[in-house]
Amino acid sequence: MTDLHFAESLSRLGTESAFVVLARAGQLAAEGRDIINLGIGQPDFRTPEHIVEAGVKALRDGHHGYTPANGLPVLREAVAADLNTRHGVEVNPDNVVVVPGGKPTMFFAVMMFGEPGAEIMYPNPGFPIYESVIRYSGATPVPIALKEENGFAFSAEEVLAQITPRTRLIIINSPANPTGGVTPKDEIDKFVAGLADHPHVAVMSDEIYSQMLYGGRDHVSLLQYPEIRDRLIMLDGWSKTYAMTGWRLGYAVWPDACVDHVTRLCINDHSCVNASAQYAGLAALTGPQDEVRDMVAQFDKRREIIVRELNSLPGVRCADAAGAFYAFPNIECTGMTAMEAQNRFLDEAGVATVAGTSFGRFGEGYVRFSYANSAENILRAIERIRAIL
Ligand SMILES: Cc1ncc(COP(=O)(O)O)c(C=O)c1O
Repeated sequence: MTDLHFAESLSRLGTESAFVVLARAGQLAAEGRDIINLGIGQPDFRTPEHIVEAGVKALRDGHHGYTPANGLPVLREAVAADLNTRHGVEVNPDNVVVVPGGKPTMFFAVMMFGEPGAEIMYPNPGFPIYESVIRYSGATPVPIALKEENGFAFSAEEVLAQITPRTRLIIINSPANPTGGVTPKDEIDKFVAGLADHPHVAVMSDEIYSQMLYGGRDHVSLLQYPEIRDRLIMLDGWSKTYAMTGWRLGYAVWPDACVDHVTRLCINDHSCVNASAQYAGLAALTGPQDEVRDMVAQFDKRREIIVRELNSLPGVRCADAAGAFYAFPNIECTGMTAMEAQNRFLDEAGVATVAGTSFGRFGEGYVRFSYANSAENILRAIERIRAIL
């Protein structure tokens, strides 16, 4: 018989429901059900072979020890060069901090600024970890409501209007999970211009889907605004772009004022990132990019299929998905709540999706479909859902 006394803060920590759906889908599949998984947020492609080889070679070459807490210098230089190629910006490799995935950057940024009395703004519906870690830090989460009628882009005016003297950090994410929304450049311009009146506010821009935009759209990186570089944390990584979710490798560009703090957080948390994963990440950035282009072209084809087919379902309306690999249809006219739809799609149709409410309260009435699955499976999934609707 134990009598454990857990910290009160644990009760405020949320989770990522996609992992719960994944577990349930796996359980049903183990019982012999034919489950089509449109719930998971990871590319259904293998990591390109030359990247895998670089990771294996690093192990064979004896890269078995600790590395610098902020990442291998050669990798941080490659990140800076890649950002220069993709976004046309100068980045000092000393401002790049390599971490195990995309999530640690958000955790560290929120730990750095969040405490009782502070306010942190975050997209809602949005990646659930933002709200979870803001609550965990004791700060007050202030949602930025993303609306279907704006293509799920954020409104600069609405964000700026919510800033108070207690606002410490604003989190934005474009292209976005779970909506596939992309915030247009003129809105970002307005947002950055408005920040001039609020020098006490830092920004974390989650750009993990920066290479997944469709319909001729170009990615706008917040790094392209020199006027906020001294308070911008720009998060990106390898998980989505190079189909490397399991390698656990990501990075952020931090402003000078934060670099020592985040490095200390890294040392306290994980010491440094797995060495072979970093060599694999180096090969990813410096090697051929054609497999990335092929993967994005495939996502684009599936995107067209899923948006068209979802719009053909009774009671379902799906906005054009501009980026990432998610469609976020409105299902209100089916009469189901988001959670009912998630459960019925899984239990009755054998299709795993994620209720919009898993991404915050403004996700009610929506369901997230990931199209990181074959066109054939997407079509089968839609036909099964059509049958139950
Ligand atoms: C918006 C967003 N940011 C960050 C992450 C986390 O990426 P990682 O798996 O590299 O931690 C995800 C993963 O789904 C995401 O959707």
